[in-house]
Amino acid sequence: MPGGGTEYYNGATLASLLSIPDMSMQAPRHLLARLLTLVLPLVVTAAHAEDAPASPRRVAVRAARLVDGRGGAPLTDAVVLIEGERITAVGQRLKIPADAQVIDLGKATLLPGFIDAHTHITSQPGNYYEDMFRKSPIDYAVVAHLYARRTLEAGFTTARDVGAGEFIDVSLRNAIDSGTLPGPRLQVAGLGIGATGGHADNTGFSPYLKFGQFSGVADGVDELRKMVRFNVKSGANLIKVMAGAGVLSEEESVGAPQYSEEELKALVQEAAMWDRKVAAHAHGAEAIKRALRAGVASVEHASFIDDEGIRLAKERGAYLVMDVYNDDYIMAEFKRLGYPAKILAKEALVGRTQRENFRKAVRAGVKLAYGTDAGVYPHGWNAKQFAKMVEWGMTPMQAIQAATVHAADLLGWSDRVGSVQPGRFADLVAVEGDPLRDVRELEKVTFVMKGGEVFKRTAPAAAGVASASGAAQ
Ligand code: ARG
Repeated sequence: MPGGGTEYYNGATLASLLSIPDMSMQAPRHLLARLLTLVLPLVVTAAHAEDAPASPRRVAVRAARLVDGRGGAPLTDAVVLIEGERITAVGQRLKIPADAQVIDLGKATLLPGFIDAHTHITSQPGNYYEDMFRKSPIDYAVVAHLYARRTLEAGFTTARDVGAGEFIDVSLRNAIDSGTLPGPRLQVAGLGIGATGGHADNTGFSPYLKFGQFSGVADGVDELRKMVRFNVKSGANLIKVMAGAGVLSEEESVGAPQYSEEELKALVQEAAMWDRKVAAHAHGAEAIKRALRAGVASVEHASFIDDEGIRLAKERGAYLVMDVYNDDYIMAEFKRLGYPAKILAKEALVGRTQRENFRKAVRAGVKLAYGTDAGVYPHGWNAKQFAKMVEWGMTPMQAIQAATVHAADLLGWSDRVGSVQPGRFADLVAVEGDPLRDVRELEKVTFVMKGGEVFKRTAPAAAGVASASGAAQ
């Protein structure tokens, strides 16, 4: 279309979609953009002004116990006061303002909304062949909202998506942020970046097959820098790099490094220029160390981490995000789902060693953030990993902190999520029993609030929602 503006749909320009005659041919593009920037905020403000309540809604949540994420002894007879989407006060038997709606959770334990620092929230395992060859990105895109909702209902009010095809994670995040869909607050990585033939590539297929429109494959410093820029431009909040080989891909060795330290350094530097943190996928000891020396914020999986890797992680203040539940599901289900034998053989090498090294890392005092790789197993099962972490060396409190304050720190969001404190988002979950005694209680979340809005409430102790004036205080 000669002289036309940006193409939006089948060659139509924005001007023609808005039925502005001849605009696409004559009006310079910047004028049109100007017009829109002037008009759009007015429309949006007007729409908001109509439904905006006079003052922010006040809510008081009461529960027998509060574990606030900061590691201290639980607070009994806890009250959390909320205005709009934020917490304004937390304390024992706080006086509840007369105009506040009271949510009384009775004997329940209240906690900060959980954070899963490693998910692939846009997909979930099904039959290998069907997923690989019969589904299009649209198939994935139309169901992704279900996974977001299940994650939220499991008590995970925040998550990182560490790699999705076709920027589906970007669209999902945007739809959640705008209030169109229920789901956790998301930080998304867009395309996972990896070397040719590496974990982000499709190996073992005919070279004539093309998968998807976009690929995160990049080799050498220049391509890596460009891929970081492309991801950022396309809406990524963080950068995911495959520093080494993987299980669910068909390279020979799961432990092999796949980038040089020089490449990783350039990628981390580039990401920093755009104010983005880097999460590095690495199972092998050498890949882990290269990533840590390059300055990544977190190493994901970290299965074969050695003593030097543990020392480096501590020295650099980097997080390990070890998906120690994952092996159970892969070993139980992936054969039935038709995954290649090579992949199952690689998982057999990783599973137990990763758990032993998790225990080592706990003992060494390395920073650990909760991350499950949900998407390799069903979304909504995110909390199953708590029990594994306790089985392999953490106290329940440490596991809770990994999924709250520590994960929030990794995300750079300590000021908004991960603890129940004034100023933070009112992201709260409740369980009926005492999770410090039995961490499996965290698998049975009965109440979920995100940003002051209740998304789930199934407590037997659901004593009803009453106004403060009518409720005993
Ligand atoms: N996405 C990871 C990979 O393909 C899954 C590893 C799962 N195994 C484990 N033991 N954590 O490498």
